[in-house]
Amino acid sequence: MAVCDARMLFRILKFVFLWAVMFLGFNMIARAQTDLSKIVGPNACAECHKEEALVWQKTHHFTTFKDMPRSKEARKITDKMGIKRVKAKSLCLNCHFTSQAATANKRPKPIAGISCESCHSAGKDWEKLHAEFSGNKKKEDETKAQATARWKKSEALGMIRPHALYSLAKNCYSCHVVPQEKLVNVGGHPAGSKFELVSWSQGEVRHNLWYSKGKENVSASRGRKRMMYIVGLAVELETALRAVGVATLRKSYAFKMARRADVARKKMAVVAKLVPGVREVANIIKLGHSAGLKLRNNARLSAAADGIAKQTLSLVANYDGSTFAGLDRIIPGADKYKGKPPK
Ligand code: HEC
Ligand code: HEC
Ligand code: HEC
Ligand code: HEC
Repeated sequence: MAVCDARMLFRILKFVFLWAVMFLGFNMIARAQTDLSKIVGPNACAECHKEEALVWQKTHHFTTFKDMPRSKEARKITDKMGIKRVKAKSLCLNCHFTSQAATANKRPKPIAGISCESCHSAGKDWEKLHAEFSGNKKKEDETKAQATARWKKSEALGMIRPHALYSLAKNCYSCHVVPQEKLVNVGGHPAGSKFELVSWSQGEVRHNLWYSKGKENVSASRGRKRMMYIVGLAVELETALRAVGVATLRKSYAFKMARRADVARKKMAVVAKLVPGVREVANIIKLGHSAGLKLRNNARLSAAADGIAKQTLSLVANYDGSTFAGLDRIIPGADKYKGKPPK
C-alpha cells in the first residue's frame, strides 16, 4: 500500500512538474500578456491621429476583426482545436484582436483588430504625457531638454516609438511567428508569415503622416530601411531559435521553425559579405550556429537567442545605416511591398 502511494505521488508530481515546465516555457516566448485595463482603444488615439487611423482602417490588421472569426479557415482551425468561440479564446485574441478589460483580471472584451496599441503598446499611462509639451502651450515653447525628458518618460511607461527599431521589430514578430506547437500541428494554423520588415512595414501598414501634417505618407529613409532590413533579420533569427526551443515533437511545427532559423542564418551570412567588418553581425552569425536546431535543446537555443538580442540592441545603438549601402541591392523595392500605402 505504502509503495503504491509513493508511486502515485511520484506520478502526480511528475505530471505537475511537466505542466509547469510547459506552461513557463510557453509563456516565455509567446506574445507578452498586456494589462488590458491599460488599453484606451484606437478611437482615443484617432482623436488626434485621424490620418493615421484612416490608413489603418484599410489594412488587414483592421479587417481581421470582422473577417477572421467568420472565415472557413478559422472554423477549420477551431474545430480541430476543439474551440467553440474564437472571440472567447485568449489564444486567438492575443494575436488577432485588441481587447480591453475593466481591471487587470477581468474577462477581456475584444474591441478591434490589430490596432495602434498592438504596435505602440497599451496607451493609458503614456497617452497624455507624449501628447502634451511638458506643460507648455505649444511645441515651440518646449525646451530640448524637456522634450527629451518627455519622450524618455513615455518610453519608460511602455510606449514603443518608431525610432526603437529593435522593440518595434520584436513586436511584429511576436505575432508573425507563431510559437504554439499545438496550434500549428493540430490546428493547421500557419507557423507564421513570410515576414520581412521593410516590405511588410512600407506597404499597406505605412502611416507616416503625422510629421508631414497629412501631406505625404513619407517612406522610411534609405538608412532606416537598411537598419530595418538587418534588425528585422536578426529578430527573425532570434524568434525562430526560441520557437525551435519549445518544439517537443518531430512534426510540422519543429521542421518549419528549424527551417526558418536556418534560412535566417544564411541570409545573415549574405549581409556579412555585403557589409563586412560589423562586429555585431559576425557575432549574430556565430551565435546562430552555437545551438543545434533539434528537439530538447531549449537551454542552448534560448541562450543563443538572448545573445542575438543583445547584439541587435548594440547594432541599433552604434549604427544608423549610412555605411550599409552594400545592402541596397538585396533590400526589397516598392514592387515587393505588402500592399500599397493609400497616400
Ligand atoms: C491629445 C492628442 C493625442 C492623442 C490622443 C494621441 N497622440 Fe500620439 N502624438 C500626439 C502629438 C502632439 C505627437 C507629436 C509630439 C511631438 O511632436 O513631439 C504624437 C506623436 C505620436 C507618435 C510618434 C512618436 C515619435 O517617436 O515621434 C506615435 C507613435 C503616437 N503619437 C502614437 C499614439 C497612440 C498609439 C495613441 C493612442 C494610444 C496616441 N498617439 C494618442 C498627440 C496625440
Ligand atoms: C502568435 C500569434 C497568433 C496566434 C496565437 C493565432 N494566430 Fe491566427 N494568424 C496569425 C498570423 C501572423 C497570421 C497571418 C499568417 C500569414 O501571413 O499567412 C494568422 C492567420 C490566421 C488565419 C488565416 C488568415 C485569416 O485571418 O483569415 C486564420 C483563419 C487564423 N489565423 C485563425 C486563428 C485562430 C482561430 C486562432 C486561435 C485558435 C489563431 N489564429 C491564433 C497569428 C496568430
Ligand atoms: C502594425 C503595427 C502598427 C499599427 C497597427 C500602428 N502603427 Fe503606428 N507605426 C508603426 C511603425 C512600424 C511605424 C514607423 C514606420 C516607418 O518607419 O516607416 C509607425 C509610426 C507611427 C507614427 C509616426 C508617424 C510619422 O509621421 O512619422 C505615428 C504618429 C503612429 N505610428 C501612430 C499610430 C496610430 C495612431 C495608430 C492607430 C490608428 C497606429 N500608429 C497603428 C506600427 C504600427
Ligand atoms: C498583435 C499581433 C500582430 C502584430 C503586433 C503585428 N501583426 Fe501584422 N498581422 C497580424 C495578423 C493576425 C495578420 C493577418 C490578418 C488577416 O489577414 O486576417 C497580419 C497581417 C499583416 C499584413 C498583411 C499581410 C498580407 O497578407 O497582405 C502586413 C503587411 C503586416 N501584418 C505587417 C505587420 C508589421 C510591419 C508589423 C509590425 C510593425 C505587424 N504586422 C505587427 C498580426 C500582427
